[in-house]
Amino acid sequence: MQTSPIGIFDSGYGGLTVFRSIADQLPGYNYIYLGDNARSPYGDHSFETIYKYTLECVEWLFAKGCELVILACNTASAKALRTIQQHDLPAKYPDRRVLGVIRPTAEVIGGFTRSKQVGVMGTRGTINSKSYLIEINKFFPDIAVHQQSCPMWVPLIENNEHLQPGADFFIDEYCNQLMMKSGDIDCVLLACTHYPLLLPKLKNVFPDSINILTQGEIVANSLVNYLKRHPELEQKLGKNGEKSFYTSGDALAFDEHASIFFGEELRSEKMG
Ligand code: DGL
Repeated sequence: MQTSPIGIFDSGYGGLTVFRSIADQLPGYNYIYLGDNARSPYGDHSFETIYKYTLECVEWLFAKGCELVILACNTASAKALRTIQQHDLPAKYPDRRVLGVIRPTAEVIGGFTRSKQVGVMGTRGTINSKSYLIEINKFFPDIAVHQQSCPMWVPLIENNEHLQPGADFFIDEYCNQLMMKSGDIDCVLLACTHYPLLLPKLKNVFPDSINILTQGEIVANSLVNYLKRHPELEQKLGKNGEKSFYTSGDALAFDEHASIFFGEELRSEKMG
């Protein structure tokens, strides 16, 4: 039966920036978005906690009928994806699939830099995991990756304070720290799905010569290819163009805030 929705998960709102691009490129499918807002941000939590929270949310999406779940969260992709793919899926859900956002980004990043000096900005969890260093090095061993963790950015964005003047200090601070690592960086990857909301400010901080890269389109392109390569899974997916949104937090608060990430108004339900 072709009824299975594609599950899209993030610790909070950030995954909506990826969902937006996926829904643009693949509008015909059915989707369920889940934001774990009650426990967000994930960025500073331990591996064990992020794995536990992520697995709980993935299993909740499986129970809703999702055969395929996208972790639209770098922190969860960095800390939980491998264990879920290598341990939980084979043991408990051999026919289901969970994909992340790090590998698809690492696969294409070489096309966005000439100097081969790339900056990666993310949460502490993503940066400390060194996932981007490892993955980019697999595909492009000649690229030097300069990492910068930005622990204040997700809390500022989740509280909708990121475009206020008070946020400028933390925005300038992390960008300056990154630029001090190499004067030759010509591509800065926003390796957190919340960060595209900072683009208006980041464009003023970084010189025009720097390509500021967001992940939505990259992940959406990768999903298009994945579905072509996996017709057995694609055939199970529902295609009525339905979108549902769930949050572990307060649904009204989610609806008020979510549109700045998703680009349109939406109505969510509290995760049951
Ligand atoms: N959007 C998540 C990411 O891509 C934010 C993680 C957090 O909750 O700190 O990493």
